[in-house]
Amino acid sequence: MKEGMHIFDMKLKEKYGPTYGTHVLGKPDLASSDLEILRRVMVKDFSHFEDRVDFIKVNPKDDYSLQLNALTVKNGDEWRRIRNTITPAFTTGKIKRKYQDFFQLLINAIDDENEINQQDKDVDSDIIHEEISKTKKNGISKIELLAQSWIVLVAGYETTAFTLQMVIYIISKIPEIQEKMRDEIMEVIGDKTEIDYDDITKLKYINQVVQETLRMYPPASRSNRLCTKPITINGIHLDKDVAFSIPVYAIHHDEKYYPDPYNFDPDRFAPEEKAKRDH
Ligand code: HEM
Repeated sequence: MKEGMHIFDMKLKEKYGPTYGTHVLGKPDLASSDLEILRRVMVKDFSHFEDRVDFIKVNPKDDYSLQLNALTVKNGDEWRRIRNTITPAFTTGKIKRKYQDFFQLLINAIDDENEINQQDKDVDSDIIHEEISKTKKNGISKIELLAQSWIVLVAGYETTAFTLQMVIYIISKIPEIQEKMRDEIMEVIGDKTEIDYDDITKLKYINQVVQETLRMYPPASRSNRLCTKPITINGIHLDKDVAFSIPVYAIHHDEKYYPDPYNFDPDRFAPEEKAKRDH
């Protein structure tokens, strides 16, 4: 395990095949890189796997915890309510126009929270909590709004920065790829001084390079779901509270899905190549 979860998964997959059971931090955990099983868990039988495994140990009564209020640890209907409330902020049209508004929302939320903290310094925290719940904006409370703003920064920055670092690493190693990317930029952007959203969508080869980078170096090498209702999948019975892990790195490096998986080849994500796969 000290080599990292991705190597742990690669080794177990080699030894036991695509589906294997372990214990992760004391919890029974079924991992599978069999795409049929994954489709059952993440799509067809998702109603049995709505929650994520809670590895975060913070005081569950801490109403002000950003971690506890973030979308990534909320479960069931709570998760659905928050997800449905914030998803409309990420439509293409809004991303084009309203990026600054999102951060204004964050700043406003922080200001509002500060006001409550100042006013209620001596007041019992239950009363503060009631106050926060009463002032829900668009179906989420202020502390929830603040927590989602925080999680977007946490989830969005490091993942993106890491991906870009790996792209730079790759183009320093394979100059032909750098040349092709440069040619595409010259063709699409040329002498333009202002680049807009539509220009970015025209950078097809660069998009393929980013996708191949994410395949080869996935910033999140594993994800999971928690079984919330017992179910049997392909003859394997999962009780309530058994974790299901998705070994992302091991899937991305599986010869069966991506032949010659350690070779960096952006053409895997060319439209005609993608059309040959069902994943
Ligand atoms: C290369 C960049 C990124 C990678 C590799 C990445 C990866 C992931 C992964 C693996 C998950 C968990 C998926 C699951 O198990 O269902 C996730 C969830 C999430 N990501 Fe990202 N992410 C990236 C960029 C971003 C950005 C830019 C944002 C925000 C603008 C963001 C916000 C979120 C949020 C809010 C969730 C939780 C969604 C939910 O629980 O419904 N991510 N991301």
